[in-house]
Amino acid sequence: MTIVGARPQFIKAAPLCRALSRKHRSILVHTGQHYDRSLSQQFFDQMGIPRPDYNLEVGSSGHGQQTGQMLQRLEPVMQRVRPHLVVVLGDTNSTLAGALAASKLHIPLAHIEAGMRSFNRNMPEEINRVVADHLSDISFCSTDTAVENLKREGITRRVYLVGDIMVDALKNFLPRPQDIDRLLSKYSLPPEGYLLATIHRAENTDDRRRLAEIVSAFLGSPWPVVFPAHPRTLKMLGRFRLLKPIQAGRQVRIISPLGYVESLALQSRARAVVTDSGGIQKEAYILGTPCLTIRQETEWVETLNTGWNRLVPADRKKILSAIGRIRKPRAHPRLYGDGRTAQRIAGILGRLLRA
Ligand code: UD1
Repeated sequence: MTIVGARPQFIKAAPLCRALSRKHRSILVHTGQHYDRSLSQQFFDQMGIPRPDYNLEVGSSGHGQQTGQMLQRLEPVMQRVRPHLVVVLGDTNSTLAGALAASKLHIPLAHIEAGMRSFNRNMPEEINRVVADHLSDISFCSTDTAVENLKREGITRRVYLVGDIMVDALKNFLPRPQDIDRLLSKYSLPPEGYLLATIHRAENTDDRRRLAEIVSAFLGSPWPVVFPAHPRTLKMLGRFRLLKPIQAGRQVRIISPLGYVESLALQSRARAVVTDSGGIQKEAYILGTPCLTIRQETEWVETLNTGWNRLVPADRKKILSAIGRIRKPRAHPRLYGDGRTAQRIAGILGRLLRA
């Protein structure tokens, strides 16, 4: 039984469900954490993800209430289905609830993208990851760094370095050059002459000063900025009266959240991506696009070490200076595996379940 709930989990579930259902009976549970079409159904349709067997429809609320409702609704489903194994992915509240519900019912638990750490406990995701990792029976790691992080916390049993499942998704859905061209002309964007921005983390969106600094940097950018906005970002831009200055000019174009293929397309031809998303830092790297990450730290440290990603504080001057210094490094080593992660995970689970 695989538990998903938020956008990055749908992306990872696409290759995972396909690989699992070849060898196992695979049940998909959607907690309902993301429910807007643009954040949820759009991905199921585009990526051919099977319709969830259960949708718990928890919706949005505070962390405690949201996670609590998920737990309350997951438990009877797990009791009814009695899966041999529960799989959780990444670090959202749905990951935390799935991990807690399974371990309380003594159902073996596997965590995909285990061992990632930002070492910043102010992030809800960091707490979700740490708890999921310590409850898991099987840990699937994307990188050596993740394996090392787990080792430091005493987790060494059934830890598998399998590569990153997002590479599988990316390889399967890489847009064709002519589709990318079409999208660029739809938004009147010159190839390599625009920035793609995505900002959705609470630390950036819910703090007026930080969000205003970011918007002000975008408005001063030498390149046009295309900005697919998460619903919470749009809400906070409105609340902090930052929408008017954006709408007054042409430099920043706010658009609806993109589908997966469109997101890959715009990332692949951007001069750079400016983001606070974890997944996009990785996707930009794999696509060979430089990235500026508006955060104090990142879990994806390899993208920093290779020079393709830079951490930039939410400060107008520093963001603009980083935009002015964007360069493509020469070396582009393969950091996240070969795109056969889902198959590897399904194989390992098959062996463990038979044992
Ligand atoms: C969640 C994950 C984050 C992940 C992100 C991907 C947690 C703690 N965070 O953040 O790790 O990077 O998903 O997008 O689980 N909202 C809508 N429509 C929706 C869903 C949310 O409008 O379909 C709005 C609501 O105002 C909600 C807010 O977005 O309160 C935040 O949603 P939530 O699911 O709590 O967290 P995300 O910011 O999406």
